Amino acid sequence: MLERRRIRSELTKWRRQMAIQWFPGHMHLTRKAISERVKNIDVVIEVLDARLPGSSANPMLAELTAGKPVLKVLNKQDLADPECTGLWLAHYNSLSGTRALALDASVAAPAKVLVQACRALAPSRSGMVKPMRVLICGIPNVGKSTLINTLTARKAAKTGDEAGITKLEQRISLADDFYLFDTPGILWPRIIVAESGYKLAASGAIGRNAFNEEEVALELLAYLKTQYATLLQDRFKLDAVANLSDEELLEAIGRKRGALQGGKRVNLQKAAEIVIYDFRAGALGRITLETPQEFAQWLMVGRKLDAQRQVRKDAIELDRRIRFKKLPKPP
Ligand code: G4P
Repeated sequence: MLERRRIRSELTKWRRQMAIQWFPGHMHLTRKAISERVKNIDVVIEVLDARLPGSSANPMLAELTAGKPVLKVLNKQDLADPECTGLWLAHYNSLSGTRALALDASVAAPAKVLVQACRALAPSRSGMVKPMRVLICGIPNVGKSTLINTLTARKAAKTGDEAGITKLEQRISLADDFYLFDTPGILWPRIIVAESGYKLAASGAIGRNAFNEEEVALELLAYLKTQYATLLQDRFKLDAVANLSDEELLEAIGRKRGALQGGKRVNLQKAAEIVIYDFRAGALGRITLETPQEFAQWLMVGRKLDAQRQVRKDAIELDRRIRFKKLPKPP
């Protein structure tokens, strides 16, 4: 009985993992452009989504910019839970070579705070002989273009998300001795933290054709009903959401919002779209989907599962090579 339940739960997890997929075809070009540019960079600004700072950090970028001072900008703070934003800022500010600040599109002059924070990270760079060279990066939809538009106080040409179609990089001058190099928003090839996939999809970072809305809404509700039950209850006029299963909750929301089909049946797809839309628009209230501690825990599990996956993959490859007689059988 227990074994059957375990298998069923594994299967559900696996099915849910399969719900998030994408194929970043332009990744190699952008990766190459960033690794070239980073050689002559003094500080990296990483724009993150304040609602999911850990999940919206691109691990590929961390690898490419390793060793460079980093300014983490927790953008869209107006949508995030202020208490959690405080935890994330404290977490990043405790790391060496890292500073963090929170911003949102309503901040009229973000240039001043960004310039100051970058100068603190690389104090030896100033003046025309040694100008500050900063690379600004971020995954799609974190608000990087909006921020750059505000910084440049004009509609700066958006650096395309699709490298090779629009130019890969643009240089913006924030002061005579301060250059900002913009890069296209890219995701990384494979998300090893299962929870991150859902949070990224819920936030709008992943294109809608690459995920299953119902699965994403269920995962989102699972988190919200434990951490932000009151916000859910108030928004959808429901009682005691913590007592409902994720599926019952989605159905109850669909019913309340009139997402029905064929008379009385709830249209779960429509209900899922409502949940995701309300979350993205901030209509539920200020919400953060992860704390530094939670993310660290998920990352640890994700890395362990990824290592196990790699062992299985290597074993399959070895077996294949032996079968096709490319390698002798082990004694
Ligand atoms: P990107 O370059 O990182 O891909 O993101 P972009 O600036 O295009 O912003 C993505 C969406 O996030 C936009 O909304 C933008 O208005 C919104 N946004 C950016 N910064 C903030 C912020 O600090 N707070 C809030 N609440 N929203 C922000 P959109 O609906 O996709 O487009 P739009 O119709 O608003 O332009």
